[in-house]
Amino acid sequence: MRNLCIVGLQWGDEGKGKIVDYYADRFDAVVRYNGGSNAGHTIVIGGRTFVFHLLPSGSLKRKRLLIGPGVALDPLTLREELELIAKEGGEADLLVDSRATVVTPLEKEMDTFIEKLRGDNPIGTTKRGIGPSYAMRALRLSPRAGDLADGTFDMSSAIAFYRSIMKDVPDITKWVSQAKDVLKGKTGDVGGTIIETNERGGSVMFEGAQGALLDLVYGTYPYVTGAHTIASYVPAGLGIPNSAMGDVMGVAKAYTTRVGGGPFPTEMLDETGTKIRTEGKEYGATTGRPRRVGWLDLVALKYAVRLNGVSELALTKLDVLTKVGEMKVCTHYSVDGEETSDFSRVLPRLASVKPVYKELPSFSGAELHRDILPRVAEDFVGYLEDELKVKVTLVSTGEERSATIRRGFVSKVS
Ligand code: IMP
Repeated sequence: MRNLCIVGLQWGDEGKGKIVDYYADRFDAVVRYNGGSNAGHTIVIGGRTFVFHLLPSGSLKRKRLLIGPGVALDPLTLREELELIAKEGGEADLLVDSRATVVTPLEKEMDTFIEKLRGDNPIGTTKRGIGPSYAMRALRLSPRAGDLADGTFDMSSAIAFYRSIMKDVPDITKWVSQAKDVLKGKTGDVGGTIIETNERGGSVMFEGAQGALLDLVYGTYPYVTGAHTIASYVPAGLGIPNSAMGDVMGVAKAYTTRVGGGPFPTEMLDETGTKIRTEGKEYGATTGRPRRVGWLDLVALKYAVRLNGVSELALTKLDVLTKVGEMKVCTHYSVDGEETSDFSRVLPRLASVKPVYKELPSFSGAELHRDILPRVAEDFVGYLEDELKVKVTLVSTGEERSATIRRGFVSKVS
């Protein structure tokens, strides 16, 4: 068994889609275990851009695709993506776990409704109904994928609940029949399938959505998503034992971005930030919103590495930093006259910390599109490895699959 889990270590958008696509050939199946269509995993092939919100990023490599019970599933988004794959020349080999939570139009309405209730302080959700959908599952009011496919779930309590709190509750009769059609014949036991794949000697890749700092419990609450985003959710989100989880590859951008509200210590509100946003095409893959941009935050990254038990790191978007004339990383925070690098200690007061930076040699004009990194980039990567105590085994220097540099030995996927 050589399973591998790929997780984001920041606030999402680290470039996981490209890394999953890059390694997908080595695995028999690619699995989504958390989140929903709030995710936007981007893959660029031959100048064409594909964005997947629900289907695992192994889709274009014609892998077995699995969507686990920990996912909040929007059937009509799934239908769009299945149609896209069909247009690209094949039918997706997909299994959705019967226990996956279904996002209905009602949860999307509730998402918008709750954001409005928050007034001047919204979370800035993607409005894809993710938080409400997990909440409705906890309330035992939402159908699961299997219930919907079999037509065995009675929605009347959920509808009565929505009518009791919201004025405009859409009629979902047509939606139910469309969603049922999408899921018919595609539901089953994903955890069991993963275990059987391993028993036959095959391996699977677990594709995380969002990033550690958006985790419902361990992230920057309340400015987080509605699910767990950390690697330890793989077993619980799929119904497999911990021993089947395999190694954890963390993905981090060479700088930081965040979409939506919430504290962001290294946020850059200057021209450099604007330049990085433009050069890095930092606009939400799901909502198109401009992403907030900041320097790399080692305090937050160390926390995420530890929280996820990262065994190796993929560093992305290094090329973007060749377009800016300076280079900084945040090594500490200053808070109440004290310096600290303990992220969990300051998490409740994150909005009031001041980042303390280390200046590093600028990447400006460095040529990264080769097989090996130039000295300035190699030194930067070495510095990160020393600080994070984890090997950087892959560096992404552009959108295309080909703009990828493998560094040294990769433990389980070589
Ligand atoms: P929700 O997941 O739509 O409820 O949004 C909660 C927060 O997570 C918001 O700040 C979103 O912008 C953020 N978020 C959700 N999914 C992603 C993602 O895939 N990338 C980046 N941010 C995300």
